[in-house]
Amino acid sequence: MKVVSIVGARPQLVKLAPMSAAFGVTGHRHVIVHTGQHYDAALSDVFFSGLDIPAPDVHLGIGSGSHGAQTGACLSALDPVLAAERPDWVLVYGDTNSTLAGALSAVKQHLPVAHLEAGLRSFNRRMPEEHNRVLTDHAADLLLAPTQEAVRHLAAEGLSERTILAGDVMVDVCLRMRDDVLAGRVAVPPLPGVPTAGEPYLLATLHRAENTDDPKRLALLVDALADLPLPVVLAVHPRLATRADEHGVKLERGAIRVSPPLPYAGLVAAVLGGTAVVTDSGGLQKEAYLLGRPCTTLRTETEWPETLASGWNVLVGDPGELGAAGWAATATRPAPAGDRAQPYGDGQAARRVVEALEQRAAGRVPVSA
Ligand code: UD1
Repeated sequence: MKVVSIVGARPQLVKLAPMSAAFGVTGHRHVIVHTGQHYDAALSDVFFSGLDIPAPDVHLGIGSGSHGAQTGACLSALDPVLAAERPDWVLVYGDTNSTLAGALSAVKQHLPVAHLEAGLRSFNRRMPEEHNRVLTDHAADLLLAPTQEAVRHLAAEGLSERTILAGDVMVDVCLRMRDDVLAGRVAVPPLPGVPTAGEPYLLATLHRAENTDDPKRLALLVDALADLPLPVVLAVHPRLATRADEHGVKLERGAIRVSPPLPYAGLVAAVLGGTAVVTDSGGLQKEAYLLGRPCTTLRTETEWPETLASGWNVLVGDPGELGAAGWAATATRPAPAGDRAQPYGDGQAARRVVEALEQRAAGRVPVSA
């Protein structure tokens, strides 16, 4: 079996790591195509080296642009690559513009497409990721859902026949990295602004268009982080750096300690070493949950509602509405008591995905829920 994985942005590289390892122990040919949506070394190269992913077989060098220009450039650059490879499966990941372009290029060439992390919904039609998810799910032939909730969403859209519950490959990679970090098997650089090991701090990230692109909203959120009573290590995505600069919003002030984007080992270590997480990232909400740290999400909805159980994750659309004391108490709250459920699977999702692709490529099992 030949599978082409199409990736382009940071969170896809994290999901690619367990898939690459799972293909690596089979005789299958796994071809990695990087669209180049993310091109900074801190958002791309460090994930290949840090997660033992082989270098991409093809790099399209697309880069940044408006949503249409970026998606269109990926689509036209992918066409000849998929035409030449003619794989048994095209595997697309998550919800970025590279995901949608990959799915479109494949279906238009009658190549079977599998969507990893299918069925997530925010029901917020203003989010570019929501369009990408919905359109990719409806184009794809096999929908690899990470959770029961995702399976239900796909059923509600009439897509049960193409759906399987695979579990979440992020669990595979996150728990493996947790064990490596705790055992001291990986090098983790010190975090800026946290001089004493063991000093309490919060880890924060902010990169979504709906939080960074409106100057007033960005200023409000950065003010809220700066006012918190613990040091806040803010790992700055280039989108945040660019928008903050354009809008004249100073990031390094009050409680905030600015850090460059973290490699995966550094991120897992930063979550484990901290008191709690404040973020608008989907992946980091889940990583906080898996690693047992409370998370405050700077959005009004989440694609990962399982994290909200027992207060592990709390949605805060506008910190100002809580008042200064309420906001501080929410962001610094301790971990809830009691065990966490395991809605994201057992850390074997990548193996299950390979098996599902094998079975369906061989036509042995009809696709069913
Ligand atoms: C993309 C995904 C988002 C994902 C995020 C993870 C879409 C629609 N969004 O958002 O779902 O959560 O990746 O990081 O696909 N930039 C650089 N260097 C880079 C990449 C980007 O400086 O290597 C800057 C550029 O100013 C660019 C901006 O960041 O215009 C946004 O990059 P883009 O790839 O369009 O989207 P992200 O915000 O990264």
